[in-house]
Amino acid sequence: MAAPGAFYITTPIYYVNDVPHIGHAYTSLACDVMARFHRLDGKRVMFLTGTDEHGQKVEKSAQAAGMDPQAFCDRVSQNFRDLSGLMGYSNDDFIRTTEDRHVRACQALWRAVVAAGNDDIYLGKYAGWYSVRDEAFYGEDELVDSPAGKRAPSGAPVEWVEEPSYFFRLSAWQDRLLAFYDANPDFILPPARRNEVVSFVKSGLRDLSISRTSFRWGIPVPDAPSHIMYVWFDALTNYITAVGYPDMAGAAFSTFWPATHIVGKDILRFHAVYWPAFLMAAGVAPPARVFAHGWWTVEGQKMSKSLGNFIPPHDLVAKYGLDPVRYFVLRELPFGADGDFSHRAVVNRLNGDLANDLGNLVQRVLSFIAKNGSGQVPNPSELAPEDEKLLAASAALHATTRARIDRQELHTALEEIWRVIGDANRYVDAQAPWTLRKTDPARMATVLYALTDAIRRVAIVLQPFMPTAAGRILDQLAVPTGAARQLEAMGGAPKLVPGTALPQPEGVFPRYVEAAA
Ligand code: MSP
Repeated sequence: MAAPGAFYITTPIYYVNDVPHIGHAYTSLACDVMARFHRLDGKRVMFLTGTDEHGQKVEKSAQAAGMDPQAFCDRVSQNFRDLSGLMGYSNDDFIRTTEDRHVRACQALWRAVVAAGNDDIYLGKYAGWYSVRDEAFYGEDELVDSPAGKRAPSGAPVEWVEEPSYFFRLSAWQDRLLAFYDANPDFILPPARRNEVVSFVKSGLRDLSISRTSFRWGIPVPDAPSHIMYVWFDALTNYITAVGYPDMAGAAFSTFWPATHIVGKDILRFHAVYWPAFLMAAGVAPPARVFAHGWWTVEGQKMSKSLGNFIPPHDLVAKYGLDPVRYFVLRELPFGADGDFSHRAVVNRLNGDLANDLGNLVQRVLSFIAKNGSGQVPNPSELAPEDEKLLAASAALHATTRARIDRQELHTALEEIWRVIGDANRYVDAQAPWTLRKTDPARMATVLYALTDAIRRVAIVLQPFMPTAAGRILDQLAVPTGAARQLEAMGGAPKLVPGTALPQPEGVFPRYVEAAA
């Protein structure tokens, strides 16, 4: 069990055969929001990402680039590290599977399965289909015919492979896995994905080939160096390497394990079936959660090299700015569903939700104060019920967003926040401080005070999603950094101190105007 108040979140580790695109950026972004949310909620957080560097796919890509595999990995891994800087990820560690600490952990996990004495790893011979692109074995019955020949269900080409191989006795784990899913109903989310996994396991499990002998780019199997580990046995282990495995008594492991894994739907089976079975076979606790998100298409089409519609995150950030991109990808799709990326949809969100709803709220309240309220936090008189209502709705965002984020519902967390932004905009219209200025200046000050405090709370809870923009709003309200920006500070009585000088307001979300062709 992880220590109370600790939270461990992981992205998949990315294959180094490719340059990062928006699909890769998406998974990590979602993890970043959760990591930041929990940190602001007072938890100790470990957020891990990294690169998956072994296996045939990477070896072939290195060959194609005419490079030594390690030098190739060094170069491509750096692209993913750079992505962290570009997207503002707050990862605490970046793991590479070619590091020594990882080789040690993989060999230790293998040995632990063997040492458990249940014969879960045995030597045999693999004869069957393999897809290098998916790094996965397929049964004949899973293949689909295509004009180009047999294909994996993902559409990837397959080849016939025959070689000596160690196997993991997955067939013996069916009942234990089903009992585990039963005892942990939220282990796999969203629920529809859980149902898919449960029926897959119920349909019977085949033993899994976990070593290869026909190429060399991998981690040697202990005591059998002619074998290298199957890349998924190696890759999945990264999650425990990073918390110090095999030192399970060590501080990192005992504080943080088990983790929440966020993965794309295409790699759910590896995480929700194979991985808990490997761990249980080695006497290690299975993960706490595996959440599978959907896939992005681009302007209605699958992203692919041949279509040339890969979206490099760098281009998007240069065009729209980092925070709008972060907001868009997390708001546009229900986290878990598939969806489409289009420039029109980004512009709609940017100009609608960000410029009109949030930007305009902040701008009209703060510039009104700058013009009419001497540029200070206004001095309220007694709060009216409608003021209390707005403040209560904004304070409640702490608990409601926490409940959503605990189930990885990032889009509904944003919906809750935007509901309050809508309330606040309607409140401005209904209270009409510009009219009160002439008729009842004391009431005007109270209304403006309630608004600034509601905006403060909204900005606090928005920090995980849009760290820079939310920080700028808090700066404009003169909220000090540190404890005053933790989620805890959203509760209780309004916290802005009347009379505090406010800086000159400046717009946070300019409208996006398409450059003339
Ligand atoms: N190396 C494995 C993961 C090992 S984890 C122990 C791998 N790497 S990957 O680079 O191919 O994919 C990494 C993640 O990117 C996956 O979660 C995948 O679902 C995600 N995406 C890749 N393309 C995507 C989209 N078009 N849309 C959304 N996510 C996508 O698999």
